[in-house]
Amino acid sequence: MSRPVDKRVFADKVLNDWLSSVGLGIEYTRADGNTLYFVDENGDEVPVLDHVCGFGSLILGHNNREIVEHAKSVLDRQVPVYVQLSRQSHADDVAAELNAILRREIPDGDQHYSAIYANSGAEAVEICLKHAELERQARIAALADEVGTHIEQAREAFRAGNVTVADTPYVRVERNGGADEFESLVAEVERRNAELMAREPVHLALENAFHGKLVASIQLTQNPHWRTPFTALASSTRFVRADQPEAMKTAIEDVRESMLDVLVDDGVVTVAERDFPVIGAFFVEPVQGANGMRVLTEEAAREIRAVCDAVGCPLVVDEIHSGMGRTGAFFASKHMGLRGDYYTLSKSLGGGIAKNSVVLFRQDRFRPEFEVIHSSTYAKDGYSGAIAKKVLRMLEADNGKAYAVAAELGGKLKAVLESVRAEFPEVVDAVNGIGLMLALEFKDQTNASSELISEKARSGMLGYVIAGYILREHRIRVLPLGPSGNSVRFEPSIFLTDADIARTGAALRDACTILRDQAGHRLAR
Ligand code: F0G
Repeated sequence: MSRPVDKRVFADKVLNDWLSSVGLGIEYTRADGNTLYFVDENGDEVPVLDHVCGFGSLILGHNNREIVEHAKSVLDRQVPVYVQLSRQSHADDVAAELNAILRREIPDGDQHYSAIYANSGAEAVEICLKHAELERQARIAALADEVGTHIEQAREAFRAGNVTVADTPYVRVERNGGADEFESLVAEVERRNAELMAREPVHLALENAFHGKLVASIQLTQNPHWRTPFTALASSTRFVRADQPEAMKTAIEDVRESMLDVLVDDGVVTVAERDFPVIGAFFVEPVQGANGMRVLTEEAAREIRAVCDAVGCPLVVDEIHSGMGRTGAFFASKHMGLRGDYYTLSKSLGGGIAKNSVVLFRQDRFRPEFEVIHSSTYAKDGYSGAIAKKVLRMLEADNGKAYAVAAELGGKLKAVLESVRAEFPEVVDAVNGIGLMLALEFKDQTNASSELISEKARSGMLGYVIAGYILREHRIRVLPLGPSGNSVRFEPSIFLTDADIARTGAALRDACTILRDQAGHRLAR
């Protein structure tokens, strides 16, 4: 007889064991608005205030009643869900609404933006990478064409005996006095150019960026632990600091490459350098979520726009985390006046009950062939399209009341976080973020006098242990974030109440007291 199998070994066993070890291994059985519920050992349903809210994908809360009702009616009406390669007007409806919002928040003349749909954030980012590469290849082809024409012109002049071949620092000229002099120079130029054209692009992103975890997008996510095992799989990224415009310029100089051109000047064949498009795109989060909710400054936004204009590469504004109203505007880039060439959206676009993402491409850069050469079975489906339409209608209702609520609640929550910081200056380093995209950053505890606290801090676990404590003692769900896991993230829905905010303050004061008093034993379970 075969032994019964423990089914808990099949999915994420290691992760689940680890979650249990820090007190986060709870199975939630119900979710409504800003509240999760689990059933305790007595069979009672226990409510938990959720500040994680689907990693920021629940601006309208868990299982929003209005969205759920809408979803039911969509399914009851037998709306087609998967009908690839047919007309799907919901895709146009959503894109039209997003265009109207974009025009209102980030005015951009007559430009409109074309939409390509996907299923997840990272997938949207990878679509940007692919499209940027199409743009780059087109620029390379145009440059190579021009160089080819110049070579032909020089060849004709050389054959006619009108010109001589000059020495050049770029390639060695075979001196034999004959036709070979010219042809060997051209062969070397063409070899060098072909080598350059075959090379992969370099992308730019900000330090501590997070843009996803798929094969190519992980290279845009700085965390070395997640990124470096996979560097051989995709093109690399130069990470630059948002607050150092000079460093941005240096980075661009560092990666600069030149294509060789053959020109005839005053009876002499010479070789000249032409700027080669090495940089694929510059990826920017208006509010860096995984970097502890850091808001881009207006100055940095201006600098990044200037860099992209100078280089000629698209500026990708990744609004996957910051978009959909969470910061008090639909697009967080509105706050710093950042005008992108591509915009990504995901998370709350799915209304908390669907997976969806979209990229908006500025018309003057959009390559229409992309609509045909890129596809995905599930993207642009009828179900998530209907949900996205509903979500946009709800966010835009009453003159965008949802954005005002996010700003107001965010202001109140931030004030409470600030008061915790003022009360515990020895424990709390900073409060970051905007609207309902906030983080409380703890001071480093690696040299704490409490052995438990310092040990957990050194292993990067302290944030999780604190989250486990706050869940156990206060029935509030928070999670750490930031490059060293020292921040706690707050990205609740717009249904957060004043009482929720007050409870959050009390829980944080309790956690800060443990750190201030170095009462590590209270964190132990
Ligand atoms: N871009 C940004 C700015 C993100 O915050 C995320 C995900 C992604 C891309 C990737 O999206 O997970 O759907 O593939 N952020 C999550 C977070 C993981 O922790 O907030 P995905």
